[in-house]
Amino acid sequence: MIASNKRKILVTSALPYANGPIHLGHLVEYIQTDIWVRYQKMCGNETYYFCADDTHGTPIMLTAKKLNLTPEALIEKIYEEHLKDFSLFEIKFDNYYSTNSKENQYFSETFYKKAKEKGYIYKKKVKQLFCPHDKMFLPDRYVKGICPKCGAKDQYGDCCEKCGASYRPIDLIEPKCAICGTIPIEKEEDHIFFKLSAFSSWLEEWLETHTDESIKNKMLEWIQAGLKDWDISRDGPYFGFRIPDEENKYFYVWLDAPIGYISSSYHYFKKHNLENRFDEFWSKDKEKKTEVYHFIGKDIIYFHTLFWPAILNTADFRTPNKVFVHGFLTINGEKMSKSRGTFIKAQSYLKHLDPQALRYYFASRLSNSIDDIDLNFDDFIFKYNSDIVGNIANIFSRCAKLLETLNNQLSKNVNQEGLSLIESILSKKKVILQQYEERNYHKVTKMIIELGSEINKYISEKEPWNQIKTNIEEARQILTNALNAGWLLSIYLKPILPSFCKGVETFLNVPFEYPKDFGLLSQNIQTQKFLPENHKINPYKHLASRITKEMVENMFKEEQKEILETSKLESNQKYITIEDFSKIELKVGMIIDAREVEGSDKLLNLILDVGEEKPRNVFAGIKKSYNPQELIGKKVIAVTNLQPRKMKFGISEAMILATGKENNLSLITVEKDVNAGSIVK
Ligand code: 2FM
Ligand code: ZN
Repeated sequence: MIASNKRKILVTSALPYANGPIHLGHLVEYIQTDIWVRYQKMCGNETYYFCADDTHGTPIMLTAKKLNLTPEALIEKIYEEHLKDFSLFEIKFDNYYSTNSKENQYFSETFYKKAKEKGYIYKKKVKQLFCPHDKMFLPDRYVKGICPKCGAKDQYGDCCEKCGASYRPIDLIEPKCAICGTIPIEKEEDHIFFKLSAFSSWLEEWLETHTDESIKNKMLEWIQAGLKDWDISRDGPYFGFRIPDEENKYFYVWLDAPIGYISSSYHYFKKHNLENRFDEFWSKDKEKKTEVYHFIGKDIIYFHTLFWPAILNTADFRTPNKVFVHGFLTINGEKMSKSRGTFIKAQSYLKHLDPQALRYYFASRLSNSIDDIDLNFDDFIFKYNSDIVGNIANIFSRCAKLLETLNNQLSKNVNQEGLSLIESILSKKKVILQQYEERNYHKVTKMIIELGSEINKYISEKEPWNQIKTNIEEARQILTNALNAGWLLSIYLKPILPSFCKGVETFLNVPFEYPKDFGLLSQNIQTQKFLPENHKINPYKHLASRITKEMVENMFKEEQKEILETSKLESNQKYITIEDFSKIELKVGMIIDAREVEGSDKLLNLILDVGEEKPRNVFAGIKKSYNPQELIGKKVIAVTNLQPRKMKFGISEAMILATGKENNLSLITVEKDVNAGSIVK
């Protein structure tokens, strides 16, 4: 048996979070990866493209809560939406899965257990903010307060937008829960850590061969500054996988997310009875046989080039051959912004513009560098209209019109003129394929467009529209040459514009048995295949339409309209109406008795006269701030129409108002002498 020299390649894109729609920023990566995968497949390499929704973590829980859905219902809904967007942009995964799957749970647990066995897991106490109202720990972005460095108000828990200082959420002054405004309390819990620091020198070596120079240098700086161990646990409530043998602890979303690459591939290979492939792709001892590549954006380099290889290595899995990193998308030269309406959703784009235009434009801007990619809409219109509509599609449309009058019948063969045109196309095969391999798609499109111009130039110079009047067969010959050349040229464009090229094949009625990949292009003109002798082609169907400024403007308008509507909706949610407020019954209550509650270090049991026949029994969490004795006789404000609450120690029949921190609370009292039971307005 002859060993095949075809490569076996597994490719992934970063997993999008399942809490929102796909936008153009995401699409840079999926289009970049999809082109590369299609290119590899067209080279005849056995290539798989795997991805999944990234479904766990706090933001997903909160989005679900906001929408009144369970997290499971949310991720199911988003999954369908994501799949639809991807398919409309012709992003073709071999498997698109979910991190909330049994396979992912299995692999996450396996990785964890392996790390534990090898001594890379330990526990350490971590102090965190906890919202007593939402009953959850608050990650950085869910706490707001005053910057401890410069005093700026309304800053998030990780860094200050005013002075740029970075700090921990517990350093914030006057922190508040960003969801509900409650003052959070500090809670200390054991967290589980992965000893990333133990991998410093191994990672230094790994980075040498698995990333590009610029990424490597950046990561080496991190390592040299000292790698911190990684906190991989979160306390419940949390939407994710429970950590085995632990109480109320879950894997942090970033632990199970990249493992999603593995579970998605496992799911696919198992379904197709290709378990041996799974082994060849992921076992450490088989890694020479296969290749694995991750495409990611520059914001998640840390996870993919430090943490990920370290845990793969710990679990005796192979590490990726390379992590390919791209820059961010900017829109008309500026960072994408929600408020400016430039976070354009895939759906808003699709309502007004052709997805292949975006594929083409991104390709024409993409290289293997991590520089940002700008989507300048004037340039976008110009480039698509001139390169695709005016150049490549034009080859077919202008020939089609004339050939229709000639019964759509080609000449017997391509003649010498045609052959030299085609030779020029074939001569570029090596370098075009090389540029695809290196992800320099901007160079690929440039070469394709230059070759397209050569074909158009040939048609213009030969003027078949004049020839047709006097010499029909000469005109037919020119069109035959041009269409054969255009068809062969379109093969180069296939990874970028798959359906466009399919349209070309349908129009030219390309024989079924012809290769559909780069194998169709021969290095040697003698062995090159052409359209058959005296071939009959099909009626022409539009391949590409011009983009107008108006279409782009309409897309922006649509996006802005939606932002306005959501912000209206959100502000409705933020405020309550006067009717809502009037539902709350607030009364003056006099504390007629106060006692400690046995077994509770927080609660006091109060007896509250609210002007009714029978006083109310109240449990209040003020033990750390007041002695029972000093409370008797105080007049406080109580919510008196709150549904009685059954507590461990008895029933609480009202709630009294207070402010301040847990161990320094101050009750809201009334200044003047008013009767118990007076209504508070
Ligand atoms: O940054 C993000 O959008 C993450 N959802 C990417 C995860 S990639 C992989 F590690 F899962
Ligand atoms: Zn809260």
